Amino acid sequence: MKLVVLAGLFGLTFGQNDPHMKHERTSIVHLFEWRWEDIATECERYLAPKGFGGVQISPPSESIVVTNPWQPWWQRYQPISYNLCSRSGTEEELKDMITRCNNVGVNIYVDAVINHMCGAGGGEGNHSSCGTYFNAHKKDFPSVPFSSWDFNDGKCKTASGEIENYNDIFQVRDCRLVSLLDLAMEKDYVRVKIVEYMNKLIDMGVAGFRVDASKHMWPGDLSTIFDRLNNLSTRWFPTGSKPFIYQEVIDLGGEPIQAKEYFDLGRVTEFKYSSKLGAVVRKWKNEKLCYLKNWGEGWAFMPSDKAVVFVDNHDNQRGHGAGGASVLTFWDARLYKMAMGLMLAHPYGLTRVMSSYQWDRRFENGKDQNDWIGPPSHGNGSTKAVPINPDTTCGEGWVCEHRWRQIRNMVAFRNVVHGQPLSNWWDNSKNQIAFGRGSRGFTVINNDDWNLSETLNTGLPGGTYCDVISGDKLSGGCTGKQLEVDKDGRAYFFISNKDEDPFIAVHTDSKLSKSSCTL
Ligand SMILES: *[C@@H]1O[C@H](CO)[C@@H](O)[C@H](O)[C@H]1NC(C)=O
Ligand SMILES: *[C@@H]1O[C@H](CO)[C@@H](O)[C@H](O)[C@H]1NC(C)=O
Ligand SMILES: *[C@@H]1O[C@H](CO)[C@@H](O)[C@H](O)[C@H]1NC(C)=O
Ligand SMILES: *[C@@H]1O[C@H](CO)[C@@H](O)[C@H](O)[C@H]1NC(C)=O
Repeated sequence: MKLVVLAGLFGLTFGQNDPHMKHERTSIVHLFEWRWEDIATECERYLAPKGFGGVQISPPSESIVVTNPWQPWWQRYQPISYNLCSRSGTEEELKDMITRCNNVGVNIYVDAVINHMCGAGGGEGNHSSCGTYFNAHKKDFPSVPFSSWDFNDGKCKTASGEIENYNDIFQVRDCRLVSLLDLAMEKDYVRVKIVEYMNKLIDMGVAGFRVDASKHMWPGDLSTIFDRLNNLSTRWFPTGSKPFIYQEVIDLGGEPIQAKEYFDLGRVTEFKYSSKLGAVVRKWKNEKLCYLKNWGEGWAFMPSDKAVVFVDNHDNQRGHGAGGASVLTFWDARLYKMAMGLMLAHPYGLTRVMSSYQWDRRFENGKDQNDWIGPPSHGNGSTKAVPINPDTTCGEGWVCEHRWRQIRNMVAFRNVVHGQPLSNWWDNSKNQIAFGRGSRGFTVINNDDWNLSETLNTGLPGGTYCDVISGDKLSGGCTGKQLEVDKDGRAYFFISNKDEDPFIAVHTDSKLSKSSCTL
């Protein structure tokens, strides 16, 4: 506590924990590989009305264009310059999207790739998203410009120039991550170029950054860079607002580099959350839902106000990064929805919802050989638009998990219960649990292989509520299950283990008004 107070007093980068969401919204959605034009439309037609607080966008910086394999998603994590033309669109389209999303109160968070440029084997020419010339062999990126002086190779002590041992913090920060040319961030010139890039985006109206590969950068270098960032645009944010920072630090325990080294700089992605939640919902290694009673810090996760949490991300949903086989994805839709329901109902952390595209998985020796496949695209490599079907789902291979009723309605649930404590916990010592959030919301989950039939104390005001998992509240009635809460807050729950979605969630905004139930 003392530390936090001190940081506040001395005006350190304390403010960079705040995502600056509008209208008491609470969740980020990662629209992975979406075009700017589609994101702008989605903000207006869906994200704002449904209560999403912000969008994490794919890297907007100019990247290498890889043709073997054909335009993989990871090419966007290999910058060529900080020009703002990418597979998602032009600088004009980016600017238009940021403006339109801000105008409906949806924040934009940029995936900032600042640790490195393209791979050392990236070749020479103009195979880049804006057609800019570069020479990876000579470490020449004239459009920034960066030259061989601006890279870490002199500092790295391994024979290969690569990170060989994650137990050596110097290798992890100074050597190449999977051959990516590692920028020398202790150089003021390099810092200036990165700050210019980030400040340009801030001035366009973005609310913050997901900082890629933060574990591979020294916290001291990042601190200098973040301290030089502009305040957010006063066109949409209060005067003096600092950009929100959340850092990708993969810390599953057991390595010398720990997430906590980055807490002074902003929030950090909590990878243990994704890995453990998958194991619990899959009931692997004797894990049980009832163990979630002390979910959060009780599971040795980082402090809640530092954590960005997710069921899966764009890396670990395809076996990249870390987290392991337990990670749940849209491919396991039934368990995935349950895990998403749990995450969004539980008070721990700042929640990020994944929105993916499908690809043709092909497993060999336990590994997906097609884990590189890029977004749905035309023959010429340009990314396809996201078409919306009459039933509000997406077409052309875009999964749009954020539009699944169960997930979309739990994003709204989280907004309604924001700030309320966990309350009225119940479990059967196995895989049936229930908990509330003060007097505003309640959820019951049955992940056992038999029916749940219980009368529970919900903490909710008496009345009739619509379950937001099996349906919606619509014109004064419920399209799904209906729940009666008596005047003491008690309600009877039945959940068949065979239900498509074996969980129920109700909140004060899903309560039917008196007139509609007495009529
Ligand atoms: C890339 O280089 C080729 C060969 O020099 C040239 O024909 C082409 O116009 C260049 N493309 C762009 C977009 O500059
Ligand atoms: C940001 O706002 C604070 C508080 O108003 C101010 O002290 C600071 O100078 C501003 N920073 C920048 C970079 O403008
Ligand atoms: C790529 O192909 C699509 C579909 O035919 C077309 O709409 C688009 O304009 C093309 N893009 C480029 C850069 O040629
Ligand atoms: C569980 O509930 C379902 C649906 O009501 C019912 O068909 C089934 O018989 C129940 N199973 C048991 C073991 O009671």
